[in-house]
Amino acid sequence: MTHASQAIPLNDEAIFDAMPMEEGGQFANHATPLIRNCWYVCARRDEVGRTPISRRLLDTDVVMYRTQSGQPVAMHNRCPHRAFPLVKGRVEGDRLVCGYHGMEFEPDGLCAHLPAVSHVPANACVQTYPIADRGPLTWIWMGDPNLADEALIPELPWLASSEWGTVTGDFHIKADYVSMHENLIDQTHFPFLHPGTVGTPEYARASMEASTEGNQVAITRRLDNAPPPGIYGKPADIMHKNVDRTSEARFASPAVHTAHAKIFDTQPDAGKPSVYGYYITHCFTPESNHSIHYWWFNSRDYRIDDTDTDDFLREASTQAYYEDVEALEWIMDVVLSDKEAQQFELSFAPDKPGLMARRIMHRLAMAERG
Ligand code: FES
Ligand SMILES: [Fe+2]
Repeated sequence: MTHASQAIPLNDEAIFDAMPMEEGGQFANHATPLIRNCWYVCARRDEVGRTPISRRLLDTDVVMYRTQSGQPVAMHNRCPHRAFPLVKGRVEGDRLVCGYHGMEFEPDGLCAHLPAVSHVPANACVQTYPIADRGPLTWIWMGDPNLADEALIPELPWLASSEWGTVTGDFHIKADYVSMHENLIDQTHFPFLHPGTVGTPEYARASMEASTEGNQVAITRRLDNAPPPGIYGKPADIMHKNVDRTSEARFASPAVHTAHAKIFDTQPDAGKPSVYGYYITHCFTPESNHSIHYWWFNSRDYRIDDTDTDDFLREASTQAYYEDVEALEWIMDVVLSDKEAQQFELSFAPDKPGLMARRIMHRLAMAERG
């Protein structure tokens, strides 16, 4: 099922002066072909070891392991002989050995040994994928290998920095990565879907500016002299006072969304910080058009070694993100079960950043198809 794109009615252009809306355009949705020329997270770094693991990524079953020197390797999880899932084999030295008839594959995918015959034919190989570690994550490129420039892996320095305390979690979600991106750059749902954590009624009046940089979309918001949301205020112990806050949410790539928030306490209690910083990192990888692997990280620049703060932020983040997971799964479920094509998609001015991200995703997906 595909949805026809419509001209988007905007009724409040003033907040989008920095980014005039072009009429029309094509917007990605759950039916748009997946963008392959992109570095996606395939695993937490410590998941990939000497025992092979498999994961379905962009509709392809992938097996991953590490060589003796610690280099990650990614291959199609199918032996080219009789489709045996290679994850059921074993790693010997740097080779992955098929568990059915013993074909041995080098990290570059070439078969180096085939026990049943004396000569290994040149076409005996398995597809491999560029893969690289960065900080706590391992990234994979499922598109044209000639375009797999490791310099394109998103920089997320706070995840590996000793100046930030980070808690993390993950979900498998039965929803599409396009709606996940739109959800993350749409902050108007906060007071309604997340009233107990990130949402406060006052946030609806926060100023908002949007901008694009290449294939990225960013929104910045500012709200002065208002109570902090619980997820920021409780661990900082500033729920009893009004604060100023700024936040940036960024569609960084089809694989990553980042958010950067700062809380300014203009009258800090003795010995307390006047600024509290957060980076929220959302990495997600389509398993298919209708499901994603999702890894989230909540990083803070205060009380970085405090386990109580860790516990609070892990629990509050899990609750907030689960609310998004549920909402997106409910939407995916009804969209896929509706028999007739959706007649319209009503959008408003604050939806514009999400639409911009979806337009970029549509353009990238179409460009890959020539
Ligand atoms: S299926 Fe792998 S060697 Fe035969
Ligand atoms: Fe949300």
